[in-house]
Amino acid sequence: MNARTQSDFEQLRASGAAVRQAFDAMRAACQPGITTGALDEIGGQILSKHDAVSAPQYYYDFPGVTCISVNEQAAHGIPGDTVIAAGDMINIDVSANRKGFVADMGESFVVGDGTSEQQRICAAVQEAVRAALAKVRSGRSLNVIGKAVQKVADREGYTIVRNLGSHGVGRNIHEEPSYIPYDNPEEDRLLERGMVITIEPFFSTGVDWVFEEDDGWTLSVPPGHLVAQFEHTLIVTDRGPVVVTE
Ligand code: CO
Ligand code: CO
Repeated sequence: MNARTQSDFEQLRASGAAVRQAFDAMRAACQPGITTGALDEIGGQILSKHDAVSAPQYYYDFPGVTCISVNEQAAHGIPGDTVIAAGDMINIDVSANRKGFVADMGESFVVGDGTSEQQRICAAVQEAVRAALAKVRSGRSLNVIGKAVQKVADREGYTIVRNLGSHGVGRNIHEEPSYIPYDNPEEDRLLERGMVITIEPFFSTGVDWVFEEDDGWTLSVPPGHLVAQFEHTLIVTDRGPVVVTE
């Protein structure tokens, strides 16, 4: 969507606060022994409190409120009986529609200390999003995002997954522009004033494409590889991004 009015900004911030609070509560509860299904319930309760409905459920009939992906699962993991253990790498992605406005955020993190390699990939993908946010401004090429993300990926030795996209958002969960956040010299679209988009790279230890599991939802990398995502929803302005999911 294109956010034009003060009210659009306020509504998007309110949607962003709903998904942020759901995420924070889930992350705090993400301790060894809890199931992904129990985490999902916590997130669902918070969204309800905010009068927000799960976007994946509402738009795609996803069998969960939030997407919880464990270890080699990159995205769209289905909450259920999986028991979280110390050393697991978890991605929680929360997106919701509140009063017609949609915000989307996600983050990968390690339960407990994990390995230094797990910590490093999570930190790198966060750094990439922050570097990209610093480049966002109306009138610039959409590719400033991919360029900034790619710079961090290259420096840290990670691949950017090519079949998991960042996207427009705001009135629907997936709007134009959809794009892959890597340095794409053929990208000719511009960041427009008021544009609402996500930045959500997926970094991996060498994997370019995730594959779909037999459940028809979960997207994974092969065993032995790591994958990590970080995502914010932002509004493009002349002075930079207004991040609504912080
Ligand atoms: Co998204
Ligand atoms: Co998301």
